[in-house]
Amino acid sequence: MFEVKGNSVSFSGIPATKLAEDFGTPLYIYDEKTIRKNCQALKSMVDLPNFEVFYSAKANTNIALLKIIKSEGLKIDAMSLGELALEKEAGFEASEILFLGNNLKESDIKAVTGEGIKCCLDSLDQVERFCKIAPNTNFYIRLNPGVGTGAGHHEKVVTAGKVKFGIDLSLLDEAIILAKAQGCKVTGFMVHIGSLFLDSTPYLNAIEQLLEIAKSYPDIEYIDFGGGIGVAYDRETEQPFPFADFSEKFSKILKDWMSDTGRAPTFAMEPGRFVVAESGACLAEVQSVKTNSGVHFAGTNLGFNFLLRPEFYQAYHEIIKATGLQGEKVTYNVTGNVCESGDNLGKDRELAKCKVGDLLLVRDTGAYGYAMASNYNSMCRPAEVLITATGEAKLIRKREETADLLKNQIY
Ligand code: LLP
Repeated sequence: MFEVKGNSVSFSGIPATKLAEDFGTPLYIYDEKTIRKNCQALKSMVDLPNFEVFYSAKANTNIALLKIIKSEGLKIDAMSLGELALEKEAGFEASEILFLGNNLKESDIKAVTGEGIKCCLDSLDQVERFCKIAPNTNFYIRLNPGVGTGAGHHEKVVTAGKVKFGIDLSLLDEAIILAKAQGCKVTGFMVHIGSLFLDSTPYLNAIEQLLEIAKSYPDIEYIDFGGGIGVAYDRETEQPFPFADFSEKFSKILKDWMSDTGRAPTFAMEPGRFVVAESGACLAEVQSVKTNSGVHFAGTNLGFNFLLRPEFYQAYHEIIKATGLQGEKVTYNVTGNVCESGDNLGKDRELAKCKVGDLLLVRDTGAYGYAMASNYNSMCRPAEVLITATGEAKLIRKREETADLLKNQIY
């Protein structure tokens, strides 16, 4: 999504310094071509007319990006009424949206069922509530595939076993009976084992497990394997998800299942990160360089309020210099400007010597970057810019202003 030329980095020929000048820093930058390429790869992963890809919008809900994703023919999931509103704004129809909330209250269910959006429920009490509100309808359920079946880059994002998600497998029949009592029918199963795996084995196991379960339930016409396909944030030590090999194995499993059972349900997947992570990068400005107790610090204006992943999950994001690339190398702890010692973007990073005013580029921030940003320390959230397929830099979200911080306060 960017090129290194001589002493600086540019995006489709636009120098990082020009983006910083025009839009300020910190700045979220996205590359349209990368998003399109990822959507196309996912869509062609399985060569079956009954295979659908839902973009998991929690990764990034910028409407300009949602429009690109829609134009590539992906459907979308929503986990809150807020996501739903943004998706409708981006042009998604009710029939293209899968609502997959957690701990829904009555008004959430009413809002969704009123629109005819497909709903996926994840507890027995939600099933009961849903059936009372929308009797004689169909819905899907999320199953918790049990201890030992999850996968993900951090325990906070592993979603199988002793976690709050899904209906325990032992309660599946009870859920179906509850539904029947209100004239409702469970017509879909969904499983999401966790987020960011680079090894396809646990995912393939979960797929086979769910398909095996679905064999005993002839009413099931929708089978959704969730999201979680990872990206290799550390290009030096990690191997990318084995996409081609997975796609071959996955297709064969689905085709064999169809010929064994004589059934052709809709098969679905809900990737979030894979669609947008690599399309994004954050431009940060070095605002202070110092050495404390022998540790060199490059202090930027990109704190954990704007990019939470490094601190919250100890997640790795590659950091490169976007200006002043040549010269003596120094090992830095790269930090933000939030008032906490844990405000780290990356530790022990070897970079060309930094000076105040230099720009740093934090890579792969398209997923769960802006989406998890906050106003902690009362800072205004960054702007977002799209590098379009024709190579222009287009502002897709304004930088917040102090007035935005005051907007909802009553005093
Ligand atoms: N479907 C369901 C039901 C999910 O809960 C999620 C993610 C996805 C799909 C999409 O997963 P993906 O393909 O993006 O891995 N903030 C964390 C990730 C949280 C994932 C939450 N659920 C991070 O920055 O790593």
